[in-house]
Amino acid sequence: MAENSVTLTDNRNGKSYNFPILDGNLGPSVVDISTFYKDTGMFTFDRGYTSTAMCRSQITYIDGEKGELLHRGYDIAWLAENKIFLDVVYLLLNKRLPNSDELKEFKTELKTRCFINENILKLFDAFPDRAHPMAVLQACVATLSTYYSRDMNFDDPVEYMELAKRLVAKMPTLAAFYYRHSRGYPQIYPDLDRGFTENFLYMMRSFPHSRFELRPIEVKAFDTVLMLHCDHEQNASTTTVRTVGSTHSHPYSCISAGIGALWGHAHGGANESVIRQLEMIGSVDNVDKYIAKAKDKNDPFRLMGFGHRVYKNYDPRAKVLKKMRNQLIDEIGIDSNLIKIANKIEEIVLNDDYFVSRNLYPNVDFNSGLILKALKIPTEMFAVIFVMGRCPGWISQWMELKEQDTIKIVRPRQLYVGPKDITPKN
Ligand code: SDX
Repeated sequence: MAENSVTLTDNRNGKSYNFPILDGNLGPSVVDISTFYKDTGMFTFDRGYTSTAMCRSQITYIDGEKGELLHRGYDIAWLAENKIFLDVVYLLLNKRLPNSDELKEFKTELKTRCFINENILKLFDAFPDRAHPMAVLQACVATLSTYYSRDMNFDDPVEYMELAKRLVAKMPTLAAFYYRHSRGYPQIYPDLDRGFTENFLYMMRSFPHSRFELRPIEVKAFDTVLMLHCDHEQNASTTTVRTVGSTHSHPYSCISAGIGALWGHAHGGANESVIRQLEMIGSVDNVDKYIAKAKDKNDPFRLMGFGHRVYKNYDPRAKVLKKMRNQLIDEIGIDSNLIKIANKIEEIVLNDDYFVSRNLYPNVDFNSGLILKALKIPTEMFAVIFVMGRCPGWISQWMELKEQDTIKIVRPRQLYVGPKDITPKN
């Protein structure tokens, strides 16, 4: 019996089964149960995959107990302090940080890919007024696959990088163009004299007749929000991208599926829900009432921006964003009423036994919404900003999937609890 293994005994018949333990470089080891069904005739059951590792990855490491996050070995707080979003995008895609010349070249490569085929804009007319931008973005990214449909096997790493640069570069343009279309505003095209991050704020907020200036803190804050969203191990939307990727679908259809998964308020839609919840609470005097609702098992109400499947400690990204939020408050001001409500909720959550006993802490969405509001980003666009940040992570995870020697299609089983065969025998 191999030493580095676990033995499972079926107490119904005393039969024992052995499964190897695989060790990673960091974090929990895994029990390889790929032969479990063949050996035992049973499936394992893991609702929400809370204890299941679905792949090997070298991209992002999270320690939920310690509240640690590394991107290809670099701590997120160090990256936020010393690098910009495009450094981290390059790191995820190229497996190392760029030197200054490589970063300069990367910026140029994205600039030359940031325009979109104008025919795609015709899609916008198909949507009703006030269509949610996440639905539009999901449709636009799937549509992009029709403009870049080469040989569907996509087994050429050079193709991957081209696909990646195109999508990272075009996402802000698609987002800003739809937003302005939905408001009936004149379109503002990317200004190639502005940086990647600044350009999005320029496309969103400037108008042809007025001079548009941004304060450096606004660009830095937005760049930090994008960086902190860029990848996060095998979260729901990344798992979706990998699942669709395992069928060898077009990479842009994989990313479009990821956008659909991220939209949910339990996931990337939470930043929008945080602001809507703070506005609904309306005053610090009402906070206690909503805390009681959040603790009431019979009430489906949950505090948006708190809790996490993996972090049972303060989300390290929330720490960085809180610092950035406070800097923004000092330099440009944020809705003080919302800040007062947010601070009161956080103070209660960090001290009240209901939340402490369940390891519920602020997550990445808690402060990102307040920062985006201070940057005058419309609330309904918050999840779209999450997509802009997460897109490089999804693509790097898809590329890692494609680099494997063999790709197994994702196809879990089930515990069937439906009717037995009641087919009439006549
Ligand atoms: C993101 O996975 C990722 O990495 C995601 C993400 C990424 O970068 O990709 O980090 C981004 O999605 C962050 C999470 C954003 N979502 C929210 O802020 C929505 C509010 N949070 C909850 O919906 C919840 O905390 C989840 C969905 C985030 C996590 O849910 P889990 O892991 O399934 O936890 P659970 O539902 O089993 O909750 C455990 C207990 C339960 O109480 P008991 O049954 O033990 O009595 O904690 C309670 C829950 O009721 N609980 C909450 C709560 N979150 C969990 N109670 C009140 N408010 C909350 N927010």
